[in-house]
Amino acid sequence: MNAVLIGFMGCGKTTVGRIVSQYLKWNFIDTDDLIVEKTKISISDIFKRYGEAYFRQIESQIIKDISDVDKCVISLGGGAVLNEQNINTLKGKGLVFYLKGSPETIIAHIGDNKDRPLLHTSNPYNTIKELLNKRHPLYVKNSHYSIDIDGKDPETIAHEIINIL
Ligand code: S3P
Repeated sequence: MNAVLIGFMGCGKTTVGRIVSQYLKWNFIDTDDLIVEKTKISISDIFKRYGEAYFRQIESQIIKDISDVDKCVISLGGGAVLNEQNINTLKGKGLVFYLKGSPETIIAHIGDNKDRPLLHTSNPYNTIKELLNKRHPLYVKNSHYSIDIDGKDPETIAHEIINIL
């Protein structure tokens, strides 16, 4: 059994995932961290030097590599749902939680964090809204549970997940 966290950048997958893993005494896996470990290149440099398609290939490979884990909380990058095979790989081995936040919550969480190449646009707020509109149906379709994050702190969200598990 695993818990897989999906959702948009800045929805708190990593923070919440770490808390859940500490309570359950499960391991925590962040696929973005594994990508950086494997390539020794930062996410934004992978996008800059090799492009998004290449990043997506590595992301899918990493997800395949971890598909046999057990008792792990897995935080996926916000775009992992773009390839539904990624989620199918993990879905049979655990529960998938969509951390669902409004664009306002997400922009407040992201703040000035610059390591998000897809938001390097002239109007990051509009980009977030557009991407979120496109991805929201995918997050819903590919999760077992949607957890509302607006106005909640990470501990509260983590406990909602733990109560379901
Ligand atoms: C991405 C989200 C990022 C990272 C990359 C692409 C996306 O992960 O994988 O910048 O397409 O939404 P986080 O959701 O952990 O920020």
